[in-house]
Amino acid sequence: MNPNPNQALWEKGDFTRIAAGMRESGEALVQTFDIRPGLKVLDLGCGDGTTALPAARLGADVLGVDIANNLVAAGNKRAAEAGLANCRFEQGDASDLKGLAEQSFDLVVSIFGAMFAPRPFDVAKEMVRVARRGGRIIMGNWIPNDPTLVAQILKISSAYTPPPPEGFVSPMTWGLEDKVGERFAEAGVSAQQVSFARRTFTFNVSGTPAAYLAVFRTCYGPTMNAFEAAERNGRAAELQRELEELFNSQNRSQRADRTSIPATFLQVTVAL
Ligand SMILES: C[S@@+](CC[C@H](N)C(=O)[O-])C[C@H]1O[C@@H](n2cnc3c(N)ncnc32)[C@H](O)[C@@H]1O
Repeated sequence: MNPNPNQALWEKGDFTRIAAGMRESGEALVQTFDIRPGLKVLDLGCGDGTTALPAARLGADVLGVDIANNLVAAGNKRAAEAGLANCRFEQGDASDLKGLAEQSFDLVVSIFGAMFAPRPFDVAKEMVRVARRGGRIIMGNWIPNDPTLVAQILKISSAYTPPPPEGFVSPMTWGLEDKVGERFAEAGVSAQQVSFARRTFTFNVSGTPAAYLAVFRTCYGPTMNAFEAAERNGRAAELQRELEELFNSQNRSQRADRTSIPATFLQVTVAL
């Protein structure tokens, strides 16, 4: 077994299958980042490049870093297929970016990525360390107890999963403005430098909501773990029902052969 549970969780599934429904919103989000040719961008917890590739298409020089080796390989493959020589991916941990020099990026982006790394104070410190003064950090973080899709998937899943080890800090705390402020303050950033906005990210896929849920059940680490635990307790059908109800009720597509589910997130922008 992988000794790093954080890495094991994300290598367990195949996040590329989920990310297929995130491309349109990922690209639209990147369009708002004011990316110019030559900008040096670090995408942390980049997955297979939902935000890294669009940033590179806008001319940025992009490094994607992710804890999961399978997603790093998938990202490099997608960049090569797209002919993007200015976009590369390597394995690394957002809470310890050894090998990356101080102030070496104009923009550090992390969309639903670094929030999943352990040791959030170290994550904030590392993001601030590798970003240059005058540069920016932009995070997209899911919000605890928000009624929309991802916050609810994680909430429902956690009710079926054994309690986390002592000292574990929930990734969802990155969706709380006061916690985010504390973490950046420890990294030497003043409250005036940090701003917040609530935005919407839409998951768009062909097929029914139930079919997209099946992808989560087989490919998304946190949901896979929840189903494994629920199966051990004879509660898998109950979990399936709860999630099906969630996916169906959140679906906004008018077409029977498409699923479109908007989800609210907290965008954090740090001006250094
Ligand atoms: C929900 S996915 C989002 C991926 C991508 N940013 C996107 O929007 O498609 C979370 C990503 O964070 C990565 N991740 C989790 N913990 C990490 C860590 N400690 N360091 C770097 N990446 C991490 C996972 O491997 C996964 O690719």
